[in-house]
Parts: sequence; structure tokens; C-alpha cells
Amino acid sequence: AEVVIVETPERAGELVAEAILEQVGRRPDSVLGFATGSTPLVVYRALAAALERGDPRAVALSGIRGFALDEYVGLPAGHPESYAEVIRREVCDPLGIPVDRVAVPNGSLDGIETAGERYDRAIAEAGGVDLQILGIGTDGHIGFNEPGSSFASRTRVKTLTEQTRRDNARFFASPDEVPRHCLTQGLGTILEARHLVLLAFGAGKAEAVAAAVEGPLTASLPGSAVQLHPRATIVVDEAAAAGLE
Ligand code: F6R
Repeated sequence: AEVVIVETPERAGELVAEAILEQVGRRPDSVLGFATGSTPLVVYRALAAALERGDPRAVALSGIRGFALDEYVGLPAGHPESYAEVIRREVCDPLGIPVDRVAVPNGSLDGIETAGERYDRAIAEAGGVDLQILGIGTDGHIGFNEPGSSFASRTRVKTLTEQTRRDNARFFASPDEVPRHCLTQGLGTILEARHLVLLAFGAGKAEAVAAAVEGPLTASLPGSAVQLHPRATIVVDEAAAAGLE
């Protein structure tokens, strides 16, 4: 993987936004993979700034197709912390992308057995993901592929680790409200994207970043799957890079 160390998260946001704008400038019907969580917000803000400047490539974002990485299982429809709502609020609305152009795995219990398979089929029918944004969990997950995820896994239901539920409790009124299950693109699904861009900021991510980029390939550290990808770019600030050789 190519590692890019930047001074601030904002700088990372600008760099990755530029990569996305180049992609969309080349192909206005690009398929983008969106992560949620805190880390990619700097990217979405930089894209919104480009739209405000009237960058024609940012205007063209309205024509992309998008796929979110994951969704909680069992939150009521319209719950503000459901990733469908987060994508609407942080991605579609500020970037002028019609919500029906960005798919999010369907985490409602109704039809959950087939939701993963249907999601993978939708990605394939769209022609696959051109550029996939990724964050990484402190336990090394990408998407919500928690430790123990097969590198060949497809979109499916996973159980969130206690660590991840604690990490994400900040988004909910109480830790108990964090769902126990999620629907996530599999590692195999993610590896099919043509370009992976993984972002991580802060000392809390240093260990996971070092293990993902330089550690052994192991299902115990799902982020290490990025080493299998021919085109993976890791964008980190100095604190998150601290564990790298
Ligand atoms: C979110 C996702 C997760 C997050 C990871 C880091 O769609 O797939 O892998 O990227 O949990 O979360 P933050 O960015 O909030 O530290």
C-alpha cells in the first residue's frame, strides 16, 4: 500500500476530495464507496467546499452512484444514527447527490437473511466500486468486519465487538442503545473496489494502522486485507502514523 502522511485531517480531506473529483471529472457516472463514522467527514466537507466554489467536477457529483459500507441492524427507519440517515445528512444533502443514487445496506429485520446478497448484486450491477473510502476501527475492523472476518467474506450480518460498541457509544444517548449487529460489506466485497483509500487520524488509530499496513495478513486484523489490494492508498496524520516503521 502507498502511505501518505499529512499534517492535519483537513489536509487529508482535501487530498482525498481531489482524488474523488479527478475520478468524477474523468467519469461522471463513477461509482463511489462511502464510509460513515467521524474520519471521512473531512473529505465530505472538502467536497462540499469544492461545490461551493463551483468546481464543475463537484457539480457532477450529482450524477454518481454510491454505496455505503455498512448499516446497523434493527434501528427504526429514520433513526438519526442509522447510516442511511448519516449518508443523507453528511453526503447526499451537502453534495447535491439525490438520495436514491446512494445505496445503504438495508438493516431492517424484514428480509435481513437476503439483504447482503442483494446488496452485493446491486454493486455488481452498477459495475463495481471505482473508489472506496475506508476508515479503520481501533480493533482493526474495516467496514464492520470485526476480527475473525474471512478475507473472502461477502456482505452479511456481523456482531459488533464490545470495543466497537464502546467506540460508537458517543453517537448514541447511552451505550446500551448501540445496536449489537450490523450488515457490512465483506472483506471480499471491499477488495473488489478498484481503488481503496483508507483514512485514519489520531493516536488511538496508530496501532491498528501499523498492524493493517505492516503486520501479518490475518483475519484477526481485518484491515490487513488492504495489503492484498493492488491499489490501496493509506492517508494518515502523524499521530496515526506513529506506529509505522
Ligand atoms: C463506517 C465504517 C467503520 C469506521 C470505523 C472508524 O462506515 O465502516 O469501519 O470507518 O469504525 O470509525 P471512526 O471514523 O468514527 O473512527
